[in-house]
Amino acid sequence: MTPSLPLPTADGDFVRIVEVGPRDGLQNEKTLVSTADKVELIDRLSATGLLNIEATSFVSPQWVPQLADAAEVFTAIRRRPGIAYPVLVPNEKGYDRARAVGVEEVAVFTAASEAFNRKNINASIDESIERFRPVLERAAADGVKVRGYVSTVLGCPYQGDVPVADVVRVARRLHAMGCYEISLGDTIGVGTPRKAAGMLKAVAAELPVSALAVHFHDTYGQALANILACLDEGVRVVDAAVSGAGGCPYAKGASGNVASEDVVYLLHGQGMRTGVDLEALADTGRWLAARLGRETGSRVGKALAAG
Ligand code: HMG
Ligand code: MG
Repeated sequence: MTPSLPLPTADGDFVRIVEVGPRDGLQNEKTLVSTADKVELIDRLSATGLLNIEATSFVSPQWVPQLADAAEVFTAIRRRPGIAYPVLVPNEKGYDRARAVGVEEVAVFTAASEAFNRKNINASIDESIERFRPVLERAAADGVKVRGYVSTVLGCPYQGDVPVADVVRVARRLHAMGCYEISLGDTIGVGTPRKAAGMLKAVAAELPVSALAVHFHDTYGQALANILACLDEGVRVVDAAVSGAGGCPYAKGASGNVASEDVVYLLHGQGMRTGVDLEALADTGRWLAARLGRETGSRVGKALAAG
């Protein structure tokens, strides 16, 4: 088992990218991606300088067939010292499965919208949080870190508008129960910069901004602008998926995550550090796109290839 090193602190110009491609990127793919390709994707990402790579999900295989091979994938990857490989778990059963193969960091997930939560995990927000309680307790005893996701922070495919107060309340509860970081997800990519910054500001009024991450899907092409607005509010952890893959199968109309390559290009251009080798990341993005039989969804990946 590879021990994970402490993550760099979020100093002013360092932004930690949480690469969610192997999980969020692949979970919505209709065609089954082979276990070998999933493993190769993670191994390639491990060589790019990324510090956090969300590897897979230990959710119900009936609900997300694409990630039914979570245990095989996690067992086969070459875990490098200093890199965290969190996985999604929706309940204790997922936690058991993850721990059985040596997972050392997990992520629990709920939403600011009741309607979305019901579709995604078949539970109300309160029920989901009660399900997480034993996971958090066992994780604390096992020395396992837990990240928490709040989905639909800027809109819900079923409910429409989501009050910021609901986002704040759910984020606060996850943090209070022991999640070290709360990732605020614009699941369907409807947010715009002012709204995104306002939402972040409201959450940061209650929780330390160093415990917050942003997670934008790019459905309406606003993700980079939203990230920039949230950086201005002090956030220094950004979720992204290589090649811009992704989407949630239970969020109607949700398209890909913001592409990691595009985020890294933006950040480096702004004089910020990520520790990520952009060329190596863009190569990996194009490799993944080829495996999925399409062009890369990263503008930067395309531009560098045309180069
Ligand atoms: P349920 O059907 O209500 O579960 O699903 P249940 O507890 O009634 O159990 C039913 C069966 O599933 C049982 O098996 C359980 O053992 C089994 P049976 O007795 O019938 O043989 N089961 C499991 N099997 C394997 N692993 C497990 C597990 N749990 C139960 N962990 C459940 C409830 C939460 C399990 C289901 O709804 C689920 O797995 N949902 C996951 C949906 C999902 O993965 N969505 C995408 C991730 S979230 C996302 O993308 C958003 C994010 O990116 C941020 C953003 O963009 O906003 C994070
Ligand atoms: Mg997502």
